[in-house]
Amino acid sequence: MQKVIVVTGVSRGLGLELCRQYLLEGVKVYGCCRFPEQSRELLELKHNSGHQFELVPLDITQPGMIHNLPYVIEEPVDILINNAGIYGPSGLGYDQLTVEPWMEVLRVNAVAPMMVTQALIDKVASSKEKKVIMMSSKMGSIGDNQKGGSYIYRSAKAALNAIGKSLAIDLAGLGISVGIVHPGWVRTDMGGTNAPLDTETSIHGIRKVIEQLSLKNSGQFISFDGSPIPW
Ligand SMILES: NC(=O)c1ccc[n+]([C@@H]2O[C@H](COP(=O)([O-])OP(=O)(O)OC[C@H]3O[C@@H](n4cnc5c(N)ncnc54)[C@H](OP(=O)(O)O)[C@@H]3O)[C@@H](O)[C@H]2O)c1
Repeated sequence: MQKVIVVTGVSRGLGLELCRQYLLEGVKVYGCCRFPEQSRELLELKHNSGHQFELVPLDITQPGMIHNLPYVIEEPVDILINNAGIYGPSGLGYDQLTVEPWMEVLRVNAVAPMMVTQALIDKVASSKEKKVIMMSSKMGSIGDNQKGGSYIYRSAKAALNAIGKSLAIDLAGLGISVGIVHPGWVRTDMGGTNAPLDTETSIHGIRKVIEQLSLKNSGQFISFDGSPIPW
Protein backbone atom coordinates (compact mmCIF):
# COMPACT_ATOMS: atom_id res chain seq x y z
CA MET A 1 0.00 0.00 0.00
CA GLN A 2 1.20 3.55 -0.78
CA LYS A 3 2.66 5.40 2.20
CA VAL A 4 0.39 8.22 3.44
CA ILE A 5 1.57 11.42 5.14
CA VAL A 6 -0.51 14.23 6.63
CA VAL A 7 1.12 17.65 7.09
CA THR A 8 -0.45 20.75 8.67
CA GLY A 9 0.43 24.32 7.69
CA VAL A 10 1.43 23.64 4.09
CA SER A 11 0.71 27.03 2.50
CA ARG A 12 4.36 28.12 2.75
CA GLY A 13 7.70 27.62 4.49
CA LEU A 14 8.62 24.27 6.00
CA GLY A 15 5.19 22.72 5.50
CA LEU A 16 5.25 23.39 1.77
CA GLU A 17 8.78 21.97 1.47
CA LEU A 18 7.76 18.85 3.43
CA CYS A 19 5.04 18.26 0.83
CA ARG A 20 7.43 18.87 -2.07
CA GLN A 21 10.06 16.42 -0.84
CA TYR A 22 7.64 13.68 0.22
CA LEU A 23 5.81 13.93 -3.12
CA LEU A 24 9.13 13.38 -4.91
CA GLU A 25 9.52 10.21 -2.81
CA GLY A 26 6.25 8.94 -4.28
CA VAL A 27 4.34 9.20 -1.03
CA LYS A 28 0.65 10.18 -0.92
CA VAL A 29 0.42 13.54 0.87
CA TYR A 30 -2.56 15.20 2.50
CA GLY A 31 -1.62 18.86 2.87
CA CYS A 32 -3.72 20.76 5.38
CA CYS A 33 -3.96 24.53 5.41
CA ARG A 34 -6.33 27.39 6.12
CA PHE A 35 -6.66 28.95 2.67
CA PRO A 36 -5.33 26.57 -0.01
CA GLU A 37 -6.57 28.88 -2.78
CA GLN A 38 -4.36 31.74 -1.55
CA SER A 39 -0.99 30.03 -2.00
CA ARG A 40 0.21 30.13 -5.60
CA GLU A 41 3.12 27.74 -4.91
CA LEU A 42 0.81 25.27 -3.21
CA LEU A 43 -1.67 25.31 -6.08
CA GLU A 44 1.18 24.81 -8.54
CA LEU A 45 2.40 21.78 -6.56
CA LYS A 46 -1.13 20.40 -6.50
CA HIS A 47 -1.47 20.97 -10.25
CA ASN A 48 1.72 18.99 -10.91
CA SER A 49 0.93 16.16 -8.49
CA GLY A 50 -2.68 15.17 -9.25
CA HIS A 51 -4.26 12.76 -6.77
CA GLN A 52 -0.92 12.02 -5.10
CA PHE A 53 -1.45 15.35 -3.31
CA GLU A 54 -4.78 16.16 -1.68
CA LEU A 55 -5.41 19.59 -0.19
CA VAL A 56 -7.48 19.67 2.99
CA PRO A 57 -8.84 22.99 4.30
CA LEU A 58 -7.92 23.09 7.98
CA ASP A 59 -7.58 25.82 10.56
CA ILE A 60 -6.08 23.91 13.49
CA THR A 61 -7.88 26.15 15.98
CA GLN A 62 -11.31 25.08 14.68
CA PRO A 63 -12.61 21.96 16.49
CA GLY A 64 -15.25 21.27 13.82
CA MET A 65 -12.63 21.10 11.07
CA ILE A 66 -10.38 18.86 13.18
CA HIS A 67 -13.33 16.58 13.93
CA ASN A 68 -13.88 16.14 10.16
CA LEU A 69 -10.31 15.04 9.44
CA PRO A 70 -10.78 11.28 9.86
CA TYR A 71 -13.70 11.45 7.41
CA VAL A 72 -11.75 13.43 4.80
CA ILE A 73 -8.61 11.30 5.09
CA GLU A 74 -9.74 7.79 4.31
CA GLU A 75 -6.52 5.75 4.43
CA PRO A 76 -4.36 4.79 7.42
CA VAL A 77 -1.86 7.60 8.12
CA ASP A 78 1.78 6.47 8.27
CA ILE A 79 3.17 9.83 9.38
CA LEU A 80 1.31 12.79 10.89
CA ILE A 81 3.43 15.95 10.90
CA ASN A 82 2.09 18.73 13.14
CA ASN A 83 3.96 21.56 11.45
CA ALA A 84 1.61 24.58 11.56
CA GLY A 85 2.68 27.20 14.04
CA ILE A 86 2.89 30.93 14.73
CA TYR A 87 5.45 33.08 16.50
CA GLY A 88 2.96 35.59 17.86
CA PRO A 89 3.90 39.06 19.05
CA SER A 90 7.67 39.43 19.15
CA GLY A 91 10.04 41.58 21.19
CA LEU A 92 7.78 41.91 24.23
CA GLY A 93 9.55 42.35 27.56
CA TYR A 94 8.40 40.75 30.81
CA ASP A 95 6.46 43.91 31.60
CA GLN A 96 4.65 44.12 28.25
CA LEU A 97 2.84 40.78 28.07
CA THR A 98 -0.94 40.50 27.78
CA VAL A 99 -3.15 37.45 28.12
CA GLU A 100 -5.09 37.15 24.84
CA PRO A 101 -2.23 37.06 22.29
CA TRP A 102 -0.42 34.60 24.56
CA MET A 103 -3.47 32.30 24.71
CA GLU A 104 -3.70 32.34 20.92
CA VAL A 105 -0.08 31.21 20.52
CA LEU A 106 -0.52 28.48 23.14
CA ARG A 107 -3.64 27.39 21.35
CA VAL A 108 -2.05 27.17 17.88
CA ASN A 109 1.37 25.82 18.88
CA ALA A 110 0.52 23.42 21.72
CA VAL A 111 -3.19 22.65 22.17
CA ALA A 112 -4.12 22.38 18.48
CA PRO A 113 -1.38 19.85 17.52
CA MET A 114 -2.65 17.65 20.35
CA MET A 115 -6.24 17.94 19.10
CA VAL A 116 -5.20 17.11 15.53
CA THR A 117 -3.25 14.12 16.84
CA GLN A 118 -6.23 13.00 18.92
CA ALA A 119 -8.46 13.11 15.84
CA LEU A 120 -6.10 11.03 13.71
CA ILE A 121 -4.69 8.63 16.28
CA ASP A 122 -6.73 5.62 15.09
CA LYS A 123 -5.61 6.28 11.51
CA VAL A 124 -1.96 6.39 12.62
CA ALA A 125 -2.35 3.28 14.80
CA SER A 126 -3.72 1.30 11.85
CA SER A 127 -0.86 2.27 9.51
CA LYS A 128 2.44 0.54 8.82
CA GLU A 129 4.88 3.22 10.05
CA LYS A 130 2.86 4.67 12.96
CA LYS A 131 4.68 7.99 13.48
CA VAL A 132 3.64 11.37 14.90
CA ILE A 133 5.91 14.40 14.55
CA MET A 134 5.68 17.63 16.52
CA MET A 135 7.46 20.55 14.83
CA SER A 136 8.97 22.17 17.88
CA SER A 137 11.78 24.68 18.29
CA LYS A 138 14.99 24.97 20.24
CA MET A 139 13.33 28.13 21.62
CA GLY A 140 11.16 25.74 23.63
CA SER A 141 14.21 24.28 25.36
CA ILE A 142 14.55 25.42 28.97
CA GLY A 143 18.07 23.97 29.26
CA ASP A 144 19.24 25.86 26.18
CA ASN A 145 17.68 29.23 27.08
CA GLN A 146 20.62 31.62 27.33
CA LYS A 147 19.03 34.86 26.17
CA GLY A 148 15.75 35.12 28.13
CA GLY A 149 12.75 36.89 26.58
CA SER A 150 10.42 35.39 23.93
CA TYR A 151 8.03 34.37 26.72
CA ILE A 152 5.12 33.62 24.46
CA TYR A 153 6.77 31.49 21.77
CA ARG A 154 9.15 29.77 24.20
CA SER A 155 6.38 28.75 26.59
CA ALA A 156 4.17 27.46 23.78
CA LYS A 157 6.91 25.26 22.32
CA ALA A 158 7.93 24.06 25.81
CA ALA A 159 4.28 23.04 26.31
CA LEU A 160 4.33 21.24 22.96
CA ASN A 161 7.46 19.38 24.06
CA ALA A 162 5.76 18.23 27.27
CA ILE A 163 2.77 17.03 25.24
CA GLY A 164 5.00 15.19 22.76
CA LYS A 165 6.88 13.42 25.57
CA SER A 166 3.68 12.23 27.27
CA LEU A 167 2.30 11.07 23.93
CA ALA A 168 5.46 9.06 23.28
CA ILE A 169 4.92 7.22 26.56
CA ASP A 170 1.16 6.80 26.21
CA LEU A 171 1.16 5.72 22.56
CA ALA A 172 4.02 3.22 22.76
CA GLY A 173 1.48 0.50 23.55
CA LEU A 174 -0.20 1.21 20.21
CA GLY A 175 3.16 0.92 18.47
CA ILE A 176 3.21 4.67 17.68
CA SER A 177 6.49 6.58 17.94
CA VAL A 178 6.64 10.33 18.47
CA GLY A 179 9.38 12.69 17.29
CA ILE A 180 9.80 16.20 18.71
CA VAL A 181 11.82 17.99 16.07
CA HIS A 182 13.68 21.31 15.82
CA PRO A 183 14.04 22.35 12.15
CA GLY A 184 17.02 24.66 12.70
CA TRP A 185 16.81 28.39 12.08
CA VAL A 186 15.34 28.47 8.59
CA ARG A 187 14.66 31.20 6.00
CA THR A 188 10.85 31.31 5.98
CA ASP A 189 8.28 34.00 6.79
CA MET A 190 8.77 33.05 10.45
CA GLY A 191 12.55 32.54 10.40
CA GLY A 192 13.28 35.71 8.40
CA THR A 193 15.95 36.43 5.82
CA ASN A 194 18.93 36.26 8.21
CA ALA A 195 18.42 32.59 9.00
CA PRO A 196 21.36 30.42 7.93
CA LEU A 197 19.38 27.45 6.59
CA ASP A 198 17.21 27.03 3.53
CA THR A 199 14.03 24.97 3.66
CA GLU A 200 15.49 22.23 1.40
CA THR A 201 18.36 21.50 3.82
CA SER A 202 16.16 21.59 6.92
CA ILE A 203 13.51 19.27 5.50
CA HIS A 204 16.11 16.92 4.01
CA GLY A 205 17.45 16.50 7.56
CA ILE A 206 14.01 16.19 9.12
CA ARG A 207 13.03 13.43 6.67
CA LYS A 208 16.12 11.52 7.76
CA VAL A 209 15.23 12.04 11.45
CA ILE A 210 11.70 10.78 10.74
CA GLU A 211 13.05 7.78 8.84
CA GLN A 212 15.19 6.85 11.84
CA LEU A 213 12.38 7.38 14.37
CA SER A 214 11.26 4.18 16.08
CA LEU A 215 9.82 3.03 19.39
CA LYS A 216 13.44 2.82 20.63
CA ASN A 217 14.11 6.58 20.29
CA SER A 218 10.51 7.80 20.61
CA GLY A 219 9.93 10.93 22.72
CA GLN A 220 13.31 12.55 22.09
CA PHE A 221 13.81 16.23 21.29
CA ILE A 222 15.97 16.16 18.18
CA SER A 223 17.43 18.73 15.81
CA PHE A 224 17.07 18.42 12.01
CA ASP A 225 20.70 17.22 11.90
CA GLY A 226 19.97 14.33 14.27
CA SER A 227 21.62 15.84 17.34
CA PRO A 228 19.74 15.75 20.67
CA ILE A 229 18.51 19.01 22.24
CA PRO A 230 18.29 19.48 26.02
CA TRP A 231 14.77 19.83 27.42
N1 LIG B 1 11.58 28.94 10.46
C1 LIG B 1 12.27 28.66 11.57
O1 LIG B 1 13.41 29.11 11.73
C2 LIG B 1 11.68 27.76 12.63
C3 LIG B 1 12.51 27.46 13.73
C4 LIG B 1 12.01 26.62 14.73
C5 LIG B 1 10.73 26.09 14.60
N2 LIG B 1 9.94 26.42 13.53
C6 LIG B 1 8.60 25.84 13.49
O2 LIG B 1 8.37 25.20 12.24
C7 LIG B 1 6.98 25.27 11.88
C8 LIG B 1 6.82 25.88 10.49
O3 LIG B 1 7.39 27.17 10.53
P1 LIG B 1 7.72 28.05 9.22
O4 LIG B 1 9.04 28.66 9.46
O5 LIG B 1 7.47 27.27 7.99
O6 LIG B 1 6.63 29.21 9.42
P2 LIG B 1 5.75 30.03 8.36
O7 LIG B 1 6.47 30.20 7.09
O8 LIG B 1 5.29 31.22 9.12
O9 LIG B 1 4.51 29.04 8.10
C9 LIG B 1 3.65 28.71 9.13
C10 LIG B 1 2.55 27.82 8.60
O10 LIG B 1 1.63 27.55 9.67
C11 LIG B 1 0.32 27.81 9.21
N3 LIG B 1 -0.62 28.17 10.27
C12 LIG B 1 -0.52 29.16 11.19
N4 LIG B 1 -1.60 29.21 11.96
C13 LIG B 1 -2.43 28.21 11.53
C14 LIG B 1 -3.71 27.75 11.92
N5 LIG B 1 -4.40 28.30 12.91
N6 LIG B 1 -4.24 26.69 11.25
C15 LIG B 1 -3.57 26.11 10.24
N7 LIG B 1 -2.36 26.52 9.81
C16 LIG B 1 -1.81 27.56 10.45
C17 LIG B 1 0.48 28.94 8.22
O11 LIG B 1 -0.67 29.02 7.40
P3 LIG B 1 -1.26 30.42 6.81
O12 LIG B 1 -0.54 30.66 5.52
O13 LIG B 1 -2.72 30.14 6.64
O14 LIG B 1 -0.98 31.49 7.82
C18 LIG B 1 1.73 28.49 7.48
O15 LIG B 1 1.42 27.51 6.52
C19 LIG B 1 6.30 26.10 12.98
O16 LIG B 1 5.70 25.23 13.93
C20 LIG B 1 7.46 26.85 13.62
O17 LIG B 1 7.22 27.20 14.96
C21 LIG B 1 10.40 27.25 12.54
